[in-house]
Amino acid sequence: MFSLKDEVAIVTGGGSGIGRAIGLGLAAAGARVGIADMSEESAIKTAGEITRAGGVSVAVRTDVTSEDGIGGAVAVVERELGPLSLAVNSAGIANAVPALDLTTEQFEQMYRINVTGVFRSCQAEARAMLRTGRGSILNLASISGMVSHREMLQVHYNSAKAAVAHLTRSLATEWAPHAIRVNSLAPGFTLTPMNTRDEVASMRADISRHIPLERFAEPEEMIGPAVFLLSNAASYCTGVDLVVDGGFTLL
Ligand SMILES: NC(=O)c1ccc[n+]([C@@H]2O[C@H](COP(=O)([O-])OP(=O)(O)OC[C@H]3O[C@@H](n4cnc5c(N)ncnc54)[C@H](O)[C@@H]3O)[C@@H](O)[C@H]2O)c1
Repeated sequence: MFSLKDEVAIVTGGGSGIGRAIGLGLAAAGARVGIADMSEESAIKTAGEITRAGGVSVAVRTDVTSEDGIGGAVAVVERELGPLSLAVNSAGIANAVPALDLTTEQFEQMYRINVTGVFRSCQAEARAMLRTGRGSILNLASISGMVSHREMLQVHYNSAKAAVAHLTRSLATEWAPHAIRVNSLAPGFTLTPMNTRDEVASMRADISRHIPLERFAEPEEMIGPAVFLLSNAASYCTGVDLVVDGGFTLL
């Protein structure tokens, strides 16, 4: 039920953090996995890890903000690995700026990568999936799209993540007739390079006290939920925003 054997996946942002962990996890579950990242070096590194573990992978440099970048990456993955059936959109950025100081450029850059980039990725992936008549897409949203932490001044990031969850629901509705499921994952605080940035690293102990499981997540703890949503085990799930946060948003 959870096997991804014979599936072909693309993971944007697969060079680091959650995308890297999920890419390795999809390969372990049997999928052939294309790792797409703006950093060619880290994409090659993750693809190499998959290959060394006995999987099949290809690395491709892509910028999800470029008009045809992600379409080109999908084409490379299909040429090297076969027709695309799974996609994980994990490419993203985070930073903190007080709302009163936030410039239009900073606000728009966040949306260009974290919202438009996710939409364009979904669009390119769904166009490929339409050719085989089935597919499953997973977008990385965040608990920051559901709650606002008073010490993390990131209105642009929080609102962008709320947009990801709702664009996921909207695409799920629109593409259900095409047998393409679209879900999102809302991780809590996860130990990736994104969370070693100063704004978060200095608050780690304090934040952990407010998490019922009393710790940040390891990136590998996102694999199970991702494999579930992408696999046939979740054949009746679409438009779900699955919270994986150690209970943080329960408080
Ligand atoms: N780390 C967390 O606590 C956390 C929590 C909730 C949600 N998320 C979300 O999960 C996703 C992955 O986060 P992470 O912590 O693994 O971050 P990360 O910084 O470790 O990895 C992000 C990857 O995206 C790539 N990337 C950035 N901009 C890109 C672009 N324009 N085109 C292509 N690739 C690009 C980077 O090169 C990097 O490899 C993000 O969408 C993030 O918002 C993270």
